Amino acid sequence: MEHKRERIIVGISGASGMPVAFHLMKILQDRTEIETHLVVSESAEITMEMEMKDQSLDDLKNMADVVHDIHQIGAPIASGSFQSKGMIIVPCSMKTVAGIATGYTDNLLLRAADCMIKERRKLVLVVRECPFNQIHLRNMSFLDSCGADIMPMVMTFYNQPQTIEDMVAHIASKALERLGVDSGEYKRWGE
Ligand SMILES: Cc1cc2nc3c(=O)[nH]c(=O)nc-3n(C[C@H](O)[C@H](O)[C@H](O)COP(=O)(O)O)c2cc1C
Repeated sequence: MEHKRERIIVGISGASGMPVAFHLMKILQDRTEIETHLVVSESAEITMEMEMKDQSLDDLKNMADVVHDIHQIGAPIASGSFQSKGMIIVPCSMKTVAGIATGYTDNLLLRAADCMIKERRKLVLVVRECPFNQIHLRNMSFLDSCGADIMPMVMTFYNQPQTIEDMVAHIASKALERLGVDSGEYKRWGE
């Protein structure tokens, strides 16, 4: 049986790219038909402080319907029985990629991602590192073979972005498209 409001789990790990996470949460906040479940890693809190001048972790949490503690391994999202449309991890660090690829799920974010794979639900990884080494590439290739979507934070120019915010919005929208959410901000080629 499907849950009435569709749920999306958003995981935020400690890679660079916090503006994309904030923008994606803002899009989801405006969607009353979607219930967001947020889990933020400890490292993400550090990266957030460094990258976001005017917005805090509390601002991010306020945009979610439900916030889960990263250490609360008994939270509903730790179970495959929790119904959801899928999970998006944005930004996704190479450490989190490695944790998912090896099944080493020692925090709630990793456990929730592991459940997505075992239940064959959507798992979207907005990965960020530059350059990638062989370990990163191998882990990402393996996760692709497990059904995860590997969506690197890469710049796009066909949409003629004028600002960094335009680029951020494009990446957030493109990632949400994988979960069937149309942000209304996404410029499609040829349209
Ligand atoms: C400012 C800052 C930027 C970082 N950027 C990246 C990054 O782009 N990609 C990455 O894989 N790790 C990055 N890291 C390192 C991760 O935060 C670190 O590997 C951490 O252990 C990840 O843990 P988590 O995946 O549990 O959040 C960055 C760290 C800091 C402090």
